[in-house]
This record gives sequence, structure tokens and C-alpha cells, in this order.
Amino acid sequence: MAKDYILETRDLTKQFRGFTAVDKVSISVQRGSIHALIGPNGAGKTTFFNLLTKFLPPTSGSIVYNGHDITREKPAQTARRGVIRSFQISAVFPHLTVMENVRVALQRKLGTSFHFWKSDSTLSHLNERAMELLAEVDLESFADIETVELPYGRKRALEIATTLAVDPELMLLDEPTQGMGHEDVGRVVELIRKVAKNRTVLMVEHNMSVISNLSDQITVLARGTVLAEGPYEEVSKNPLVLEAYVGSTEVEAA
Ligand SMILES: Nc1ncnc2c1ncn2[C@@H]1O[C@H](COP(=O)(O)OP(=O)(O)O)[C@@H](O)[C@H]1O
Ligand SMILES: [Mg+2]
Repeated sequence: MAKDYILETRDLTKQFRGFTAVDKVSISVQRGSIHALIGPNGAGKTTFFNLLTKFLPPTSGSIVYNGHDITREKPAQTARRGVIRSFQISAVFPHLTVMENVRVALQRKLGTSFHFWKSDSTLSHLNERAMELLAEVDLESFADIETVELPYGRKRALEIATTLAVDPELMLLDEPTQGMGHEDVGRVVELIRKVAKNRTVLMVEHNMSVISNLSDQITVLARGTVLAEGPYEEVSKNPLVLEAYVGSTEVEAA
């Protein structure tokens, strides 16, 4: 059976004043999968994400999402299609409560018409949905605390909840476990597994045990180009990949 790709890039390229940060990258992301993008520092991972969300315009190449060429779309159009990057739209407000942050994200999705918000039933529905989202990321008991008081690992969970609020079809996660201790990493891994159940996840991640735990498919970038592709068992044994990581401080034991 033919594979069902939600996202395909073709020779996607980004140059910064002659320097090629992303160099003819073609990847295919299967619908419903967790696809990881790895590679040493400076490989072009974040730039690639910025191209997908339209934060940056590509120099050349194309992006096809659900069969539509979205290469020249505006960021908002692409976001409306369901391509959502966590931490891009989900900057959390430190002095709102955890619950209020999720409500703000929900309001952002629904629009800002004043009259629309006068309805009590809309507001109570919003509260209900916010609590559901907090339950999904295991933050119910933190609902009423000020966000600035949240432990670091829990903040990531909140950011994921605010991303889920806009109902992403393709969720882009840039280093979801960055800077976390062992216990928080485990919790975020379980969280990603859970939220990936009815959507597609494309994530940049450095922690190899997280990668091996979660990813169905891995694309390895180095110096802007695709170095290798495949499941963890293959990619982790690929001599080219091991070589690319030599001298990098990012290698972590599986
Ligand atoms: N706005 C920019 N202007 C110039 N060079 C940039 C810009 N953004 C990224 N780069 C360069 O592109 C390369 C890839 O960066 P980046 O995508 O952040 O890599 P990664 O996320 O894999 O660490 C790096 O050499 C970086 O210095
Ligand atoms: Mg990066």
C-alpha cells in the first residue's frame, strides 16, 4: 500500500547571504508517525522548522502539506492548516495562572470578537476545555498556581497544553526535553507519546534515549543536508552518522 505522507519537502533550501543553512532537503513525514530530526549543532534543524512554519521564506524548493503546495503561504495560513510549532505560538505568560494560560491559547484559536466573548456559555465551555487540556498533560492539580511557580519540567507540559489548544494536526517540537532532569524527561516522553496518538509529530531532539524511545523514523541532518534516514536501529549504526557527531558535545548515550 502507498504510504500516506502528511508533509513532504522537495529540495528545500535556505541561504543566508550566500551561506547555505538548509541545502536541498527532501523529507517525507508519514501521517500519524513520530518523526525525529537530529544532527549536530548548526546542522540546520531550527532553520528547517522555521521554513515549515513560514517564519522564514525558503530560497528554493517546495513544501507540500496534505497534498497542497504551501511553500508560498503566509505563516497564519499554514498555522490554520494545523502545522503548529510548540513554543512558537505558545509562549506562556508567567503571571497568569496555568489555567488562564490555556484559556488564552483557546481564545486565540477561537478569535477575538468581543461580542462572541460576551456569551456565558462560551466562557464556561472554554473553562471546561481548558481543564480537559490540563488533564491531558497531567497538570490539573496545578491549574490555579501562577505559571512562574511551576517546576521547569511542568512548564514544558503547559506549553504542550497550550499548543494542543489550537488543535495541531502536525505538531513541531524543537528540543522538548532540553535542560531537563531525568525524571522530567521521562514524563515528557510519555506526554509526547500520548499527544502523538491522534496526530503527527515532527521533533528536533538531542537526547538519544528519547529518540530511540519515541521515533518511528529519523532524518539526520549535517551541514544542511540529509545524511541518513531510517529507524533508530539503522541510523544509530550508520558510520556516517557516528562520524558527523564526532567532536560534537551533543552525543548522549542511548
Ligand atoms: N538568521 C540567520 N542568519 C545567518 N545565519 C544563520 C541564521 N540562522 C541560522 N544561521 C546559521 O545556519 C546554520 C544552521 O543553524 P540552525 O538551523 O540554528 O542549526 P541547528 O538548529 O541544527 O543547531 C548555522 O550555521 C547558523 O549559524
Ligand atoms: Mg536548533
